[in-house]
Amino acid sequence: YLNYRVPQTRRDIIQTLIKGLQRMEYRGYDSAGVAVDGSGKDHAASISLYKKTGKVKALDEEIYKNNSIDFEAELDTHFGIAHTRWATHGEPSPLNSHPHRSDKNNEFVVIHNGIITNYKELKKYLVSKGYDFESDTDTEVIPKLIKYLYDNRESNYMSFSTLVERVIQQLSIENVSFFLNRRGSPLLIGVRSQYELSTEQIPVQYNCNSRTDEQEKNALNRRGSTNALHSVHDRLAVEFYFASDASAIIEHTNKVIYLEDDDIAVVVEGKLYVHRIKRTAGEDPVRVIQTLQMELQQIMKGNFKAFMQKEIFEQPESVVNTMRGRICFDSNTVILGGLSDHLKEIKRCRRLIVIGCGTSYHAGVATRQILEELTELPVMVELASDFLDRITPVFRDDVCFFISQSGETADTLMALRYCKQRGALTVGVTNTVGSSICRETNCGVHINAGPEVGVASTKAYTSQFVSLIMFGLMMSEDRLSMQQRRLEIINGLQKLPELIKEVLALDDQIKSIADELHHQRSLLVMGRGYNYATCLEGALKIKEITYMHSEGILAGELKHGPLALIDKHMPVIMVIMRDACYKKCHNALEQVTARQGRPIILCCQDDPEISKMAYKTIELPHTVDCLQGIISVIPLQLISFHLAVLRGYDVDYPRNLAKSVTVE
Ligand code: F6R
Repeated sequence: YLNYRVPQTRRDIIQTLIKGLQRMEYRGYDSAGVAVDGSGKDHAASISLYKKTGKVKALDEEIYKNNSIDFEAELDTHFGIAHTRWATHGEPSPLNSHPHRSDKNNEFVVIHNGIITNYKELKKYLVSKGYDFESDTDTEVIPKLIKYLYDNRESNYMSFSTLVERVIQQLSIENVSFFLNRRGSPLLIGVRSQYELSTEQIPVQYNCNSRTDEQEKNALNRRGSTNALHSVHDRLAVEFYFASDASAIIEHTNKVIYLEDDDIAVVVEGKLYVHRIKRTAGEDPVRVIQTLQMELQQIMKGNFKAFMQKEIFEQPESVVNTMRGRICFDSNTVILGGLSDHLKEIKRCRRLIVIGCGTSYHAGVATRQILEELTELPVMVELASDFLDRITPVFRDDVCFFISQSGETADTLMALRYCKQRGALTVGVTNTVGSSICRETNCGVHINAGPEVGVASTKAYTSQFVSLIMFGLMMSEDRLSMQQRRLEIINGLQKLPELIKEVLALDDQIKSIADELHHQRSLLVMGRGYNYATCLEGALKIKEITYMHSEGILAGELKHGPLALIDKHMPVIMVIMRDACYKKCHNALEQVTARQGRPIILCCQDDPEISKMAYKTIELPHTVDCLQGIISVIPLQLISFHLAVLRGYDVDYPRNLAKSVTVE
């Protein structure tokens, strides 16, 4: 956070940073830290650093225990940086938390998202030069390297941007947003000014790394008149917010600049410049100020106990938002604007490859069968990490879909780059406008589910599901033989929000089932066909927030192993819907009850056959087979939520997990 010419107290600055951290705490919450400048006159000599293990609240309390700082001092120009951590190198502890520092005087302080793969070599070198390390992190090499390069500069003049560029050249950075440098991990700049900013853009500057400080100043002055933010700053005060997530800054401004990989944003005397070390053919020479559509209330919990609960209950609206303006229920047409220009090419492809991680992968599993049916193409569904491990063959005539709520998941992003390099057409299906996957794919669909804060993904899953179905419908529009099927699905989509509301109305009944189950150690979820993905997704929800062991089992595999787990003590949830697999699921149910299993069954309303064999049933409204998975996953989302609450866990912040996994 960098403020220029808006007098504020140090307390205000710290509060801005703490609030920002709290808004994005879901991204990582092992520990947190803040650095703020001290006097406003002599920044470098007086940076204050606070770090604390645990949630941001603990850090907030820690800061005010310190009496040596004047919190009420008014500052004209000032900066602060803050970070909430998800440990990769080194356990969560104050020393391992960010910001990291160059030395005991805090001359340079750094926060960083990602992994530095060559940190061991750099650390060894810096230790041999007499630099002492205090943490086990990879990040600490950055401030130490800055200090080393600064201490050993050739002349007295070395601009900060030159220093930054030199440091970056030394680092093998996998995913980093280095203070003002973006490489891999997301980084955006919020700009707040009383001046109207909607049409502004910043030209990118090249090759500034070989200049002296004096040359740089002259160059900046010459460029001043063409730099939009420069003129803004001349007239009025301006504040800049640098963040890896828009939710951290949305209460201050909705004007943002998304940085591209390898951009270095430099603020010199209150003016913002964007540099790149070298120019690549075809790249955009400006960075535009965009307006975020996100509202503050979208990231507030309201009356719900947890974001996850709020997001489960938002699903009747979020699926409508996914379909809005895309399906015409009168003419039975579906248009996904982001794909229209590429439709011909997609129709000519050899196969579709759907790639994602976790829940997003499950959305691919859930829709594979209907995509195969509607597109008449082979469809592969791949976990991004495994897809890369296998060095999977990809061809120019493949179309690869990348499913990601955050649009920043490192494994999915790497898979995207891999497919792009091999000439495939790449399609993003994301929930975050401006995310890396969104920007790096050739085309895409925005699922429009609204911000998802709970670490356990819920409404994003159902919206990804609906988006992929809409894609299938768009692909089959000119197939006469499919019109009946298309009509059935489109009608099903129209009724979906009402059916979701019916399922949500079962919440009390579902909670009473959770009351019975919450002391158990294990929970199996079994089904097949269109509802297999529901089992995988339900089991993932249960394990990630309740810490119970849970497995999604394909009912067809039961007799090939999992049946050995069944006895009267093992809790089993079975999903048995009225579709083509009904009879086969019935067989599986017979096998479970024959071993004294006592299944809780998710089934369609009015199914006495199933009900009489069940220990308990949750009766769900019936819809078209390929949409039934949207209905059947909701009771499992609710069960996992209630189980986690009953077991006393923090639903939105499950241990060891983070919302965006921006490291491989
Ligand atoms: C589970 C969950 C994760 C994510 C996975 C991919 O509830 O949220 O499994 O689905 O980390 O994240 P995105 O969709 O952001 O790529």
